[in-house]
Amino acid sequence: MDVRAAEKEEIDQLARIWLDAWTDAHAEIVPAALTRVRTYESFKQRLQALAADIRVVGPPGAPAGLCIVKGDELYQLFVSAEARGSGAADALMADAERRLARSGVQTAWLACAIGNGRAARFYEKCGWNRVGTMVSELDTETGKFALEVWRYEKRVGRP
Ligand SMILES: CC(C)(COP(=O)(O)OP(=O)(O)OC[C@H]1O[C@@H](n2cnc3c(N)ncnc32)[C@H](O)[C@@H]1OP(=O)(O)O)[C@@H](O)C(=O)NCCC(=O)NCCS
Repeated sequence: MDVRAAEKEEIDQLARIWLDAWTDAHAEIVPAALTRVRTYESFKQRLQALAADIRVVGPPGAPAGLCIVKGDELYQLFVSAEARGSGAADALMADAERRLARSGVQTAWLACAIGNGRAARFYEKCGWNRVGTMVSELDTETGKFALEVWRYEKRVGRP
């Protein structure tokens, strides 16, 4: 499954995928105050700001999932409901780990909402280790939102 850079024209579709996948995984396990600010518009604005760093799977014009790395963090990974279990997430993860390693990162980390069992299982299948919890300062349109999360780490660089 090929992973490629997102096209500008795909931002609307990607915002819909991000919103729907975020809602599937988080609406029942995070505070209502966070769900209220996770709107379609908010995801679209964040994608516009991150456009150069978005990697996707799926044919041009029909992306099925997205992944973004930021510094040493695997920052976002979301695939559409239809693409879950298809290997799309594995392809995005492999691409992200390669990019992290190429940028000189030795140990990468990611935050996963406490109780997001499917994502946790997926990360563990990919060789990530849950090292504990941390307070993540989540980006929102109205500033930072502090949320306790599971922290995962993986060595991605060559020794
Ligand atoms: C997280 C995500 C990217 C993983 O991709 P995926 O294609 O669903 O991953 P896979 O199907 O390969 O692996 C998921 C595993 O979790 C298991 N699983 C499914 N529901 C589960 C649950 N409620 N609790 C625990 N494990 C679960 C699956 O059986 C599978 O394990 P298996 O391969 O051993 O059977 C994708 O599910 C997704 O986009 N979810 C919504 C958004 C999200 O949570 N993003 C991550 C934010 S931290």
